[in-house]
Amino acid sequence: MMSWKLSESSMAVLLLLFLAVAVTAAPDEDAYIGVNIGTELSDMPHPTQVVALLKAQQIRHVRLYNADRGMLIALANSGIQVMVSVPNDQLLGIGQSNSTAANWVSKNVVAHYPATNITAICVGSEVFSTIPNAAAVLVNALKYIHSALVASNLDKQIKVSTPVASAIILDSFPPSQAFFNRSWNPVLVPMLNFLQSTGSPFMLNVYPYYDYMQSNGVIPLDYALMQPLAPNKEAVDANTLVHYSNVFDAMVDAAYFAMAFLNFTNIPVMVTESGWPSKGDSNEPDATLENANTYNSNLIRHILNKTGTPKHPGVAVSTYIYELYNEDLKPGPVSEKNWGLFNANGEPVYILHLTGSGSVLANDTTNQTYCTAKEGADPKMLQAALDWACGPGKVDCSAILQGEPCYEPDNVIAHATYAFDSYYHQMGKAPNTCDFNGVATITTTNPSHGTCVFPGSSGRMNGTLANNVTAPSMSSTSSGSPPARGYYGMSFMGFLVCLRVILGSLELLL
Ligand SMILES: *[C@@H]1O[C@H](CO)[C@@H](O)[C@H](O)[C@H]1NC(C)=O
Ligand SMILES: *[C@@H]1O[C@H](CO)[C@@H](O)[C@H](O)[C@H]1NC(C)=O
Ligand SMILES: *[C@@H]1O[C@H](CO)[C@@H](O)[C@H](O)[C@H]1NC(C)=O
Ligand SMILES: *[C@@H]1O[C@H](CO)[C@@H](O)[C@H](O)[C@H]1NC(C)=O
Ligand SMILES: *[C@@H]1O[C@H](CO)[C@@H](O)[C@H](O)[C@H]1NC(C)=O
Ligand SMILES: *[C@@H]1O[C@H](CO)[C@@H](O)[C@H](O)[C@H]1NC(C)=O
Ligand SMILES: *[C@@H]1O[C@H](CO)[C@@H](O)[C@H](O)[C@H]1NC(C)=O
Ligand SMILES: *[C@@H]1O[C@H](CO)[C@@H](O)[C@H](O)[C@H]1NC(C)=O
Ligand SMILES: *[C@@H]1O[C@H](CO)[C@@H](O)[C@H](O)[C@H]1NC(C)=O
Repeated sequence: MMSWKLSESSMAVLLLLFLAVAVTAAPDEDAYIGVNIGTELSDMPHPTQVVALLKAQQIRHVRLYNADRGMLIALANSGIQVMVSVPNDQLLGIGQSNSTAANWVSKNVVAHYPATNITAICVGSEVFSTIPNAAAVLVNALKYIHSALVASNLDKQIKVSTPVASAIILDSFPPSQAFFNRSWNPVLVPMLNFLQSTGSPFMLNVYPYYDYMQSNGVIPLDYALMQPLAPNKEAVDANTLVHYSNVFDAMVDAAYFAMAFLNFTNIPVMVTESGWPSKGDSNEPDATLENANTYNSNLIRHILNKTGTPKHPGVAVSTYIYELYNEDLKPGPVSEKNWGLFNANGEPVYILHLTGSGSVLANDTTNQTYCTAKEGADPKMLQAALDWACGPGKVDCSAILQGEPCYEPDNVIAHATYAFDSYYHQMGKAPNTCDFNGVATITTTNPSHGTCVFPGSSGRMNGTLANNVTAPSMSSTSSGSPPARGYYGMSFMGFLVCLRVILGSLELLL
């Protein structure tokens, strides 16, 4: 059992923090899982293939490390919400010039919105740790980008923030004692003011893998991997008496406390990167397929379960997994190249331990069912059913139009199959949604072919796909869950625990 004790001098501050936190409200918003898309691959798939994979895996939230035009076009009308990024090498220019920022927003955001549902702009990436010299202009960059959005009347729909490495949080355990590296306060305070006044999230990268690697055995592997722990193995924050069963929650709570020490108590945390490498050098023995699968599966279940963190139970902490593809061109140790869920050809690196069709990255897509036109069905009946599906049935039939990926083979059986299968999945594979007056039937054979990816297919794509196809219009009616925003609060139990701490600390102080 790990436990930590707080100096008495800090107690009064903590007491105030708890009071401040305990009174804020907590609207219910669902947390979601997103995925980061790095592009340092020798055979980076075409944006169309990337989007087909995202759809097949039900991924509705992505973060790009730039604002690649091809990707933004392919993501148009996809139902996928997109965070774009100002790359670090453009940060200085943008932070020094309002008009450079305005041009960036106009070219990379306004030009694509609303067809491409851009929900946030990440200004730089881990600026404090990777390009500390540019930190001086970070707040200006945030403000300039924001005022350009205001000028375009997009500031309500699109949030502006900057992902930070958890390394700027010092003494992160116990979380109640965490604080930001004070040398950054001159930037962090105006930055948090900006996030608070614009209703934007604090974007945090959380890597229990590195925390575990650097802890020299202090952090148990199961605690890093979010494995279920016996209560006596949990880490207890002696100040708050809160139990932590994994590094991820402790780090998110550390961020809440570090912000609270600077008197910011209502900025939600969003985790912009988290993951585990599936392969490593000989000195990275815990970068394994098994551990990567365990961590990411546990993480996804934890986030989607609306568990929240011990400090803020039930409060959404939406999280972007690092990352979609293995990036073979990344420099550094073997692990650097192996954080991906998929290989470039769309094959999963491992099958996550997640069940439930229709949910993000669920593993039972290999056992998927599809709805097809029956062999030998009357072509007139098929045509009528096809017309119904694409009309009153509200199926998006654009993929079977001439020039689109599912146009060929151009016959009523193939087109009807596409429409039937779309309808069937649109209706959540409910009973009787694959009948169409008897001309449709359920099958386990994936009818996808070439670039024509059927709804519900696993997204496994052959490496032989044409890499130069134009973006098909594959719009989806579902738009996923709303981004996590707003204020957080404490459960009643949490508040009782606080009261105990406050009373205890009063005793100490008196
Ligand atoms: C973008 O996604 C959000 C969240 O689902 C949704 O409320 C909004 O209507 C979408 N915007 C567009 C332009 O599709
Ligand atoms: C930056 O430009 C925007 C218009 O894009 C304007 O509204 C704002 O006042 C400018 N800010 C500064 C600091 O010049
Ligand atoms: C705090 O940040 C400064 C500036 O980047 C750095 O030099 C220092 O090492 C950091 N302190 C700790 C304890 O990480
Ligand atoms: C936070 O607020 C308290 C009470 O208003 C004040 O004493 C303290 O100086 C503030 N701390 C910071 C870092 O602004
Ligand atoms: C999900 O939440 C339920 C009830 O809130 C709980 O019983 C279950 O253990 C949770 N599962 C995970 C993986 O956290
Ligand atoms: C899918 O997830 C379930 C539940 O965790 C697991 O038992 C099963 O082995 C997984 N399937 C595959 C193919 O990995
Ligand atoms: C896969 O399909 C078979 C046959 O329909 C079914 O019995 C089994 O439960 C399915 N497995 C999953 C994980 O859905
Ligand atoms: C993938 O390739 C194999 C043989 O190379 C072929 O049988 C299969 O139909 C292809 N699948 C798709 C979805 O193109
Ligand atoms: C584009 O793909 C087609 C096959 O779909 C191929 O014949 C053609 O050579 C490709 N063009 C380029 C520039 O790769």
